[in-house]
Amino acid sequence: MILYKEFSMLVDFNALSPSQIYFAMSQTITPRPIAWILSDNGDGGFNLAPFSYFNGVCSDPPLIMFSVGAKRDGAPKDTRANIALRSNFVVHIPHSGQVEAVEKSGDALPPGESELTALGLETVPFGGFPLPRLRDCRAAFACELYRMDLIGNAPQAIIYGRIRSMWLDDAVGAHDAKGRLSVDATALDALGRLGNEYSALGPLLRPGASAPAAPKPAPTPAAAVKPVPAPKPVMEEEPPVDPNDPKAVRRAKRRQHKKAHLSDLRHQIDMVLGGPDYAQTSYEKRQELAEWLMDKLQRAKWVDEHVIATELYLLRHDHPERFH
Ligand SMILES: Cc1cc2nc3c(=O)[nH]c(=O)nc-3n(C[C@H](O)[C@H](O)[C@H](O)COP(=O)(O)O)c2cc1C
Repeated sequence: MILYKEFSMLVDFNALSPSQIYFAMSQTITPRPIAWILSDNGDGGFNLAPFSYFNGVCSDPPLIMFSVGAKRDGAPKDTRANIALRSNFVVHIPHSGQVEAVEKSGDALPPGESELTALGLETVPFGGFPLPRLRDCRAAFACELYRMDLIGNAPQAIIYGRIRSMWLDDAVGAHDAKGRLSVDATALDALGRLGNEYSALGPLLRPGASAPAAPKPAPTPAAAVKPVPAPKPVMEEEPPVDPNDPKAVRRAKRRQHKKAHLSDLRHQIDMVLGGPDYAQTSYEKRQELAEWLMDKLQRAKWVDEHVIATELYLLRHDHPERFH
């Protein structure tokens, strides 16, 4: 006789593939804030993309972080490459009325092609910062690269940005009588990321108060937030390969070869830089090493300047004493 049935689910992550784990985490750790990030393409144009593995992580110094996967071919996403090369970027907090534009800006465009142009989004100067911000935004942070770490097997780049200044729309930010900054969450109306859908801010809850506080009228009604019909994985996985399609099999092999090549380069870099002899290495020798790495990375034809810049950034960051 069954006396007790447990209606719950214990999910063993050891039994899941990375993509299953991604779906389990991204549908449960919700709602996530979205960093809508504008970065510099280096040709006068700007890149815009959303990232929801994002949060504020330190106040002294003021830091945000977000996590960036790789493109399908293993190359760094344009946001990561732009930041590694040019450091400055702007994080916008999108509002619920921007759900369609946020979703579309997550589509991959060729490097150098701007989502701003494709989506008809306007920018305005960001008082004193070299990059502009979106005209239609309620909160934006002017950031510069603080550090970048590679984690996981993919690998995933964790980018930390140091906030230089924050811009708030007048309807959102105000100073109280004591001069303290207060931000109106309802007016900010921050868009949240769920699994494949989005959420708008619900009623505000005030612990200790007998009933939930009535929400102030939001500038954009929650009803405007439509669930996005076509689910699309955010961290791209290797697509399944049809073994009967020789072209697809060849492409998959090439991709694997590229991945193995990059991981081999990384391994060599680690070996060279981590070796015991480097404590006594001269400045000239370090320059020579940097040249050697550049040359080696450039010779791997598929590795573009973005990968080289990221690798050298990481080397400089992890081993500053060897580069100046
Ligand atoms: C709402 C939303 C959140 C996303 N969050 C992430 C994320 O946290 N990390 C990531 O690597 N990609 C994320 N993506 C996918 C990227 O936005 C997408 O790969 C984009 O094409 C990257 O653009 P880029 O190559 O111009 O940087 C997200 C997409 C959407 C729509």
